[in-house]
Amino acid sequence: MSILDNIRSRRSVRAFDGTDLRPEDAEKIMACAAEADNPYELAITWRLLDAGKDGLTSPVITGTNTWIAGKMQRVSHAEEAFGYSFEKIVLYAESLGIGTTIIAGTMNRPAFEKAVNLEDGEVLPCVSPLGYPAKKMSLREIMMRKGVRADSRFNFGELFFDGKYGTALSPEKAGNLQSAFEAVRLAPSAVNKQPWRIVLCGNEAHFYEKHSKGYISADNWDIQKIDMGIALCHFELAAKENGIDVFFKVEDPRLETEADAEYVASYGIRG
Ligand SMILES: Cc1cc2nc3c(=O)[nH]c(=O)nc-3n(C[C@H](O)[C@H](O)[C@H](O)COP(=O)(O)O)c2cc1C
Repeated sequence: MSILDNIRSRRSVRAFDGTDLRPEDAEKIMACAAEADNPYELAITWRLLDAGKDGLTSPVITGTNTWIAGKMQRVSHAEEAFGYSFEKIVLYAESLGIGTTIIAGTMNRPAFEKAVNLEDGEVLPCVSPLGYPAKKMSLREIMMRKGVRADSRFNFGELFFDGKYGTALSPEKAGNLQSAFEAVRLAPSAVNKQPWRIVLCGNEAHFYEKHSKGYISADNWDIQKIDMGIALCHFELAAKENGIDVFFKVEDPRLETEADAEYVASYGIRG
């Protein structure tokens, strides 16, 4: 399956079929997690957790006892790094037929933090259930998806810009990067806000975060930067799959943007 097909077929799974995650699948996921690097080169410790043993609950998840959680040092760019690495695991799980939902809020966080022995200076950004999707979605899952319009995404030209922030980029003009942009467009995000904006300037793609109100906590943790990490991951994986040599850099080009848009990172494109 191509990366874009993998991205297209993924959705958040909140109702599982009640069977345990097979040991060989658990092993594969943890092997993938151990390799799931990120361009910020920040280390993340991944743990497979058992809901029964560790008292883990989420009001939105049914039918599985297995969870994956990652913890790391709470440093600058932790959010983007975590989003990037976690999404690699999520997409790999999808390729194995294993359902996931990235969860930052709707879980009993203290129990998860205890289960991973979270220490001072560390953060546990998100967790995900792991299991086999139930044949039918639960009513709660259907309602939740409706609530955030989970099946819809902004149009290409609303998210991606040609040379100048705000000037729509057409899929045709994106040329051989079209599927990399499409991979970003389809990415999952907290409350499906899709904060990513990209300005394509010659052989550089500059990523901006368009802030929604209320997503930065009092202690300056920005959930939407996790979304940005996911977007970077999708772009890079899809570009590379198409044989395009892209390289990551953080070098603000100081373009004029909307007031609520913040520069995050860029990919240089070698062709
Ligand atoms: C950083 C992040 C945090 C999320 N937190 C939650 C959460 O707390 N609870 C939940 O049910 N879904 C959560 N989600 C899942 C999103 O709601 C979901 O990805 C989005 O609605 C798009 O739907 P899809 O994943 O099915 O494409 C989160 C997603 C991301 C990327």
